[in-house]
Amino acid sequence: MTGPRSPIPDPDRDDREAIISVRGLVNRFGEQVVHDGLDLDVRRGEILGVVGGSGTGKSVLMRSILGLRTPDAGRIEVLGVDARAGDAQSRLHIERNTGVLFQDGALFSSLTVGENVQVPLKEHNPELPDSWRYELALLKVKLAGLPADAIDKLPSQLSGGMRKRAGLARALALDPPLLFLDEPTAGLDPIGANAFDHLIRTLQQALGLTVFLITHDLDTLYAICDRVAVLADRKVVAVGPLPEIENLDHPWVREYFNGPRGRAAREAGNRESGVGNR
Ligand SMILES: Nc1ncnc2c1ncn2[C@@H]1O[C@H](COP(=O)(O)OP(=O)(O)O)[C@@H](O)[C@H]1O
Ligand SMILES: [Mg+2]
Repeated sequence: MTGPRSPIPDPDRDDREAIISVRGLVNRFGEQVVHDGLDLDVRRGEILGVVGGSGTGKSVLMRSILGLRTPDAGRIEVLGVDARAGDAQSRLHIERNTGVLFQDGALFSSLTVGENVQVPLKEHNPELPDSWRYELALLKVKLAGLPADAIDKLPSQLSGGMRKRAGLARALALDPPLLFLDEPTAGLDPIGANAFDHLIRTLQQALGLTVFLITHDLDTLYAICDRVAVLADRKVVAVGPLPEIENLDHPWVREYFNGPRGRAAREAGNRESGVGNR
């Protein structure tokens, strides 16, 4: 099943284990307060869509969860360890168990797609023979929906959509249970974006992934997200299934969901039983 989730809440789902738990998060840059007492849980096995206006701190939240930025205050637990601890063992645990597709893609431009995918494998499994590593990279390239011959191409030889898939292949290199995607469909045309959404949903179901998905793409929300968290006013102002969120009485939410783009995406989501139309 790849369609939008039923709006009827499943009573079992509220008890799901939190794979990520953020409490009282504070992030400041000089005078600027980006997060001020932010709380959020990500449940095992869900696709959580994270939305909010530009500059509301979505990427900073992701970096804090990954332990790439030390917040000014708050508690963050990821896969049972303290992301703030900063000790080598916790770092390794988070690194080994998370795949990340950063906002800018961030592939090494001088390495082929295959070499890019092998970077985390080399770092975490140095004992693997080269031929195995190549085979594993090939598997991930195919899993990400790229043709096999993409493995020997440079990022500059690929289209934008293919580069995103290459980044996804690298994010999946270590078979992580937890996947972070920062604006993965930004810059893709509607058909490419739709296909990428579909791929994420398929992989999430086949591999049992938990996905933290930052997006401002309304179609993505309607097509594949189980729940949505809204960042505004320096915190998560609401989190829940879309039908709850879209009726929220908050100025940003009203404007976002009830503008013409919101209406179109909702209608497409309702019409389609597969991935939403664009
Ligand atoms: N390294 C940094 N130094 C200073 N300011 C930063 C840094 N990273 C992010 N910011 C600021 O924090 C705010 C939130 O950034 P970001 O998380 O990237 O927003 P978005 O929600 O668009 O992803 C922005 O105003 C940004 O300018
Ligand atoms: Mg961002």
